[in-house]
Amino acid sequence: TNAAQASPHGHTPVTVAHRGASSYAPENTLAAIDAAAELGIEWVENDVQRTKDGELVILHDNSLARTTNVKKVFPDRSPWNVADFTLKEIEKLDAGSWFGQKFEGERVPTLEDYMDEVEHNDQNLLMELKSPELYPGIEMQTLRELRRGGWLDRDHLKHRLIIQSFNADTLKTVHTLRPDIKTGFLGNPSVADLPKYAKYCDQINPVHTAVTPEYVAAVHGLKGPHRRQLDLYTWTVDDPAVAIKLADLDVDGIITNKPDVVQDALENR
Ligand code: G3P
Ligand code: CA
Repeated sequence: TNAAQASPHGHTPVTVAHRGASSYAPENTLAAIDAAAELGIEWVENDVQRTKDGELVILHDNSLARTTNVKKVFPDRSPWNVADFTLKEIEKLDAGSWFGQKFEGERVPTLEDYMDEVEHNDQNLLMELKSPELYPGIEMQTLRELRRGGWLDRDHLKHRLIIQSFNADTLKTVHTLRPDIKTGFLGNPSVADLPKYAKYCDQINPVHTAVTPEYVAAVHGLKGPHRRQLDLYTWTVDDPAVAIKLADLDVDGIITNKPDVVQDALENR
């Protein structure tokens, strides 16, 4: 695969920092991607959703409650869904203190600010469209923002950007709008169904407990829309022994909250 390196054990999977280096800094904040950068991690994963006034922001849960101080700032707005808050309101929230006092003042980033920071750090982006069924039109809107941010030029398309989702229709839409963007399906379709996904997905990204030698072989036996072998990235793996096992099964990417631990394990395999 393009990002793989030679090793005596075959190729080394790419390490992807899940929600940033989220074991060390609050998930899906700029601090989390900076923490990944400081650890020398080139790929970060995030989750994109939309505010009430139509702005794209980075947040994993549909609700702001777990990862910000929204309950304190807006006590009457249960269940605190991101879709019910304006960007101006969300910008008032602290998305760092829940994780640790030293992260006080971290914000829920806009996609625009997030892309700029990834670019500034010279990192690459595995971008998840999270719960897109809640946000009609988010595919086209996201592509517009990516283009504006300079993320749809040749270099980014070839080496630096993958869009993933649990929602197959969303990936079909992305692929139809911009066939040159790489896409990854989050899940583990049956082997019989894989060829259908290969029409519009470059990757199949299953939970790590679903990864077997047969499944990896089935994925690798197919070519994606860009006429390259399909890749398999798996999640979420923080145990170095499990990471090594998966690398020995020939997965192409490992998505982890502890990217330093996984990268060390893979490099010393
Ligand atoms: O990148 C894979 C992983 O992020 C999928 O699960 O819930 O963490 O978005 P989740
Ligand atoms: Ca995710």
